[in-house]
Amino acid sequence: MRILIGITAGIAAYKIPLLIRMFINAGVEVRCIMTSDAKDFVSPLVISTLSKNPVGIAFWNKETGEWNNHVEYGEWADVLLIAPCTANTLSKMVSGACDNLLLAVYLSMRNKTIVSPAMDLEMYQHPTVKRNISVLIADGVHVIPPDHGELASGLSGEGRLPEPAFIFEEVVKYLSLGQDFLNTQVLVTAGPTYEAIDPVRFIGNHASGKMGFALAENFAARGASVTLITGPTVLRTEHKRVQTIHVTSAAEMFEAVQRHWLDMDLGVFSAAVADYRPIHPAEEKIKKTNEALSIELIKNPDILAWAGKHKTATQRTIGFALETNNAVENAMEKLSRKHADAIVLNVIEENEKCFNSDTNKVRIFDVNGLSLELPTASKAKIAQGIVDYITRIRL
Ligand code: CTP
Repeated sequence: MRILIGITAGIAAYKIPLLIRMFINAGVEVRCIMTSDAKDFVSPLVISTLSKNPVGIAFWNKETGEWNNHVEYGEWADVLLIAPCTANTLSKMVSGACDNLLLAVYLSMRNKTIVSPAMDLEMYQHPTVKRNISVLIADGVHVIPPDHGELASGLSGEGRLPEPAFIFEEVVKYLSLGQDFLNTQVLVTAGPTYEAIDPVRFIGNHASGKMGFALAENFAARGASVTLITGPTVLRTEHKRVQTIHVTSAAEMFEAVQRHWLDMDLGVFSAAVADYRPIHPAEEKIKKTNEALSIELIKNPDILAWAGKHKTATQRTIGFALETNNAVENAMEKLSRKHADAIVLNVIEENEKCFNSDTNKVRIFDVNGLSLELPTASKAKIAQGIVDYITRIRL
């Protein structure tokens, strides 16, 4: 699915980077066009970095001499979203004016256009704006009404750009991402766990949580209610159907999973849980008095195995495996030992890292003896492939 986001010169443009990230995490391809004044509100560098594509601003790029082909943009996109859409752009869309790249693309769009107007309350109430919006609706444009609330002017009223999660939901309907997980409760574990050695030190690992967050957002985009239980990570999700529970240690993650598991239909355990923890974490910071230091470790509970053992006839569990030798054999062993319905094996090529990388390559094995390889792709794309696969084993 491909979305083209048009950003015009409104203060609410600051919300668009978050929106872009939500689409990327849901496996949607994103390209952006900005009007030249929009650059004063949000940096094209941020927009191009997050959307993973160059930003179109003018009809042609003065440095490279390349032409930004508006017709190609119009054919490429499954949907054009203009957010925030200023009163000025609304009025030009109504008249068919074509004095910037975004307007030329609007006129070239093959598919749906959605606008999310945002402006000060008096402007939004002005009869010309109201009239322009009615004309656009009659022209087949979908209009996301602005929110009521605090405005950049300091006033409060109608005109505020809705939160990114709301706009995302509205657009998803048009992208027909499908709502195949509607009324489904999904639990996802993500990130590393930190096991305390003393109040300031821990045993941990390099897991970033990116895969788990991408899975949570993909499930949510497809209608699921997601409980995301994550170890320490800088990642955040704004998706309103994702409830995030932050934990630190394996014991806390286990406790949170036990608390929620009964209500779940499906559990995807992507966390890199520490296998061991210090048996007696020191209450005070350990001083470096001795030349050598031994820390006695004890095994942590296996969360995936616990959920597999305690699942009902309709609940399903999916685990992950990261193996450096006998990968397939070990993954199959984990599938049966942990009573999982499928195991996602991270395929590690030579010289490749898996933790903290933005891409991944996996092979999925399930209890029915089927397997599927998903070639190297962004974690968002891999998440989409895994979720697609899960729809099969749900049956
Ligand atoms: N897992 C878990 N709880 C643990 C350890 C692992 O839920 N205490 C889950 C992980 O989230 C992952 C799967 O089990 O889905 C595989 O984890 P891994 O650490 O590779 O498996 P182990 O059973 O620890 O096997 P190994 O001997 O390879 O470390």
